[in-house]
Amino acid sequence: VYTVKANEVKATVQPTMWGLFFEDINMGADGGIYAELVKNRSFEFDTPMMGWKEQKKEGATGKALVHNREAINPANRRYIRVESKPGDGYGLTNEGFRGMGIKKGEQYNFSVLARQQQGNNVALTVELVNPDGKVIGTTTVTPEGQQWKEYKASFTATETEPKAKLNIWPKGEGTVDLDMISLFPQHTWKERPNGLRADMVQLLADMKPGFLRFPGGCIVEGRTLDERFQWKKTIGPVEDRELIVNRWNTEFNHRLTPDYFQSFGLGFFEYFQLSEDIGAEPLPILNCGMACQFNTGELVPMDQLDPFIQDALDLIEFANGSVETTWGKKRADMGHPEPFNMKYLGVGNEQWGEQYIERYKAFEKALTEKYPDIKLITTTGPFPDGEEFEYLNTTLRSMKDARVDIIDEHYYRAPEWFRENATRYDNYDRNGPKIFAGEYASQTVAIASPDNKNTWNGAMSEAAFMTGLERNADVVVMASYAPLFAHAEAWQWTPDMIWVDNLRSYGTPNYQVQKIFSTNKGTHVVPVLLNNEAVTGQNGTFASATIDKNTNELILKVVNTSDKDLASEFVVDGVKKLNKKGTVTVLRSDNLNQENSFANPNAVSPTQKQVQVKDKKVKLNMQPYSVNVVRVKMS
Ligand code: AHR
Repeated sequence: VYTVKANEVKATVQPTMWGLFFEDINMGADGGIYAELVKNRSFEFDTPMMGWKEQKKEGATGKALVHNREAINPANRRYIRVESKPGDGYGLTNEGFRGMGIKKGEQYNFSVLARQQQGNNVALTVELVNPDGKVIGTTTVTPEGQQWKEYKASFTATETEPKAKLNIWPKGEGTVDLDMISLFPQHTWKERPNGLRADMVQLLADMKPGFLRFPGGCIVEGRTLDERFQWKKTIGPVEDRELIVNRWNTEFNHRLTPDYFQSFGLGFFEYFQLSEDIGAEPLPILNCGMACQFNTGELVPMDQLDPFIQDALDLIEFANGSVETTWGKKRADMGHPEPFNMKYLGVGNEQWGEQYIERYKAFEKALTEKYPDIKLITTTGPFPDGEEFEYLNTTLRSMKDARVDIIDEHYYRAPEWFRENATRYDNYDRNGPKIFAGEYASQTVAIASPDNKNTWNGAMSEAAFMTGLERNADVVVMASYAPLFAHAEAWQWTPDMIWVDNLRSYGTPNYQVQKIFSTNKGTHVVPVLLNNEAVTGQNGTFASATIDKNTNELILKVVNTSDKDLASEFVVDGVKKLNKKGTVTVLRSDNLNQENSFANPNAVSPTQKQVQVKDKKVKLNMQPYSVNVVRVKMS
């Protein structure tokens, strides 16, 4: 018999408690949520024609050459010059990101920046084709004049095809220059032109996340400092956003992505907008003057750190400043005069050593002087039990000459670790910095092994751990699973929360666990006890309880990791009355290795039934390997 003390509030659950970690890894942004279908649209990849092929029908004499204008346009260095002859069968094909996902009956919007050579009049026939070469959608555009200008044309696709390609056939005699050759579906999240994949954002919105951490992850740091994420280069017109190599390009254990670059079509403005759309607090993480220490670990000398700190100050102005300010005006010019109301800022991702500490202090000083209300998040490097982690954690916790608001801890660990660490925060200093569990996921084989799977065992173990986060909500103020997205044909890291291909997406069992916690958050933690102790693994069970003061409900989360049916009773003290009926939402599988998949996306998914409540007792029959969330009205 378990006891719940519904009137003994232990902590407030922060609205930010369960959130999202976004990084452009596994083709999460380019090739993923950013709905652009053309790969290397501006010929800026290291190999300028990567993703493109020339087409030459018999007798074709046309040709194309990539031109470099770096001296006059360093952010968008290249364009392609195409020479066309009448009746010529010369053209260009773009392969998309592992093909282009096209849906029958949907509208597609083609656009291109173009200019003709003097007196020339080259038109462009644009075609979507399936792998057999059948045209499944077509349109034409006719650029005019010698000035760069954008041209647009829309058409409807006649077939659904996950592996379409885009052909561009110049028609007529002459030379035409092309840049930013782009194709987007009309249907995007909130129908924004050139926006985000609606199905992918919907999965995020459905979780009702408390925050969105962006843009990473290691891409914040870059392999070298030149390749770090620089937010200022990701705003404004897309053609002016300077492309860089993605830190996850071929680097890692699953070498499928030599074509992984960051176009920054999903840039900082879009990240803030996405946060707002899904009701999440924006939580940007910025480079702190250190490149990824798993790579070069390149450092900016302390006397040259100012531009990095200035980027942080300017970011706050961009997000929150009035339209009269330099950076606030840029936000307004992009269509958002209202501030984004940013409250958190992360300084560095997974850095370590005294080099981090001294750089953090410099950031802290400048940020506190100007923006004392912005909560600062510090990294602890990888991972618990490691030397770097312990050094940073101890140093940050005892720091007297700089404020440390929230510490970001990452754990990529075996499922057992998650169950064994449900008590991790029980003895943390209540007066010290708060905790952001900023990246975590059960590694079923080894950290980031390509063989890791999104199994029910992993997900259930995370749920057990999360009851510990919730029980300690006075210390833990944010938590996010990582990584978020993975493209089935272009990933570098497993496991991941949501898998996608060019047309489909599904949530893993881990997604279902995150969602069930986030959508059943409650407002205040109350004790749930077994023999007067917190439920942290006795009989294989883990539990936490909250009440929701807005809806006047008791919310019980109980994880049964054992292989037994457990008929249990929860005696609820401290309430006048409980409704006779409550609901229990259950996630479970008999098979600990169960995964979800494109073919079976709901193998592990919630089912709901009623629970009986009698004399302030909740009767709950917990099936083996189950996560149970009970909601009962109180009075
Ligand atoms: O989530 C994948 C990577 O794991 C992140 O980029 C990094 O922060 C961590 O090491």
